[in-house]
Amino acid sequence: MSDFPDRPGARPEPAEIRGFLHYSGWLTGDEQRGILSDLRAVARAAPLFSPMTPYGRPMSVRMTSAGKFGWTSDRSGYRYAAAHPSGTAWPPIPDSILRVWRAVVPGAREPECCLINYYGAEARMGLHQDRDERDFTQPVVSISLGDDGLFRIGGTERGGRTQSLWLRSGDVMVMGGPARLCYHGVDRIAPGTSLLLPKGGRINLTLRVVT
Ligand code: SIN
Ligand code: FE2
Repeated sequence: MSDFPDRPGARPEPAEIRGFLHYSGWLTGDEQRGILSDLRAVARAAPLFSPMTPYGRPMSVRMTSAGKFGWTSDRSGYRYAAAHPSGTAWPPIPDSILRVWRAVVPGAREPECCLINYYGAEARMGLHQDRDERDFTQPVVSISLGDDGLFRIGGTERGGRTQSLWLRSGDVMVMGGPARLCYHGVDRIAPGTSLLLPKGGRINLTLRVVT
């Protein structure tokens, strides 16, 4: 199923939750640490920043990106940008991360953005759809690292019934098919639930095809 040669045993099978595929514990500890060290290099080149929402408040989540495009937000709206706010190009998506995409969504196009979200103890993300991409036939793949995050999934219309689950370090989620445009968000994280990040907090990566 994958080209990570070092994993003892098979990858977990996914559980389907409202059309999302949740792979609990997909990444080994070594794989998580490998991705983290690649992310540190990304953040050195393209530092985390706090985007301003179109409503004029800074987001509680800090972000940066890797890939051809990075996701950003400011007073004029949400969008993909070809460069970091500093003007520097986004670093390429590390192979350690691309390998996850290729293993869980083998038929998909290559991702053009890896959005890196950092949640400190107080950060959250309101319910939203991922709809700034052009091709909704392509999935979004999410990778969670560090502290647990309470992830909420709704339907394709705002205001519907929702269901929540905890995403833990090493979990992978595929948001695709009929669920590609389902609302989702993070109510809160549970500080101190993982030792992966020395200063605590949660990292979520979302891989997207943008064009
Ligand atoms: C996102 O929807 O961009 C982030 C989801 C998450 O943090 O799990
Ligand atoms: Fe999202």
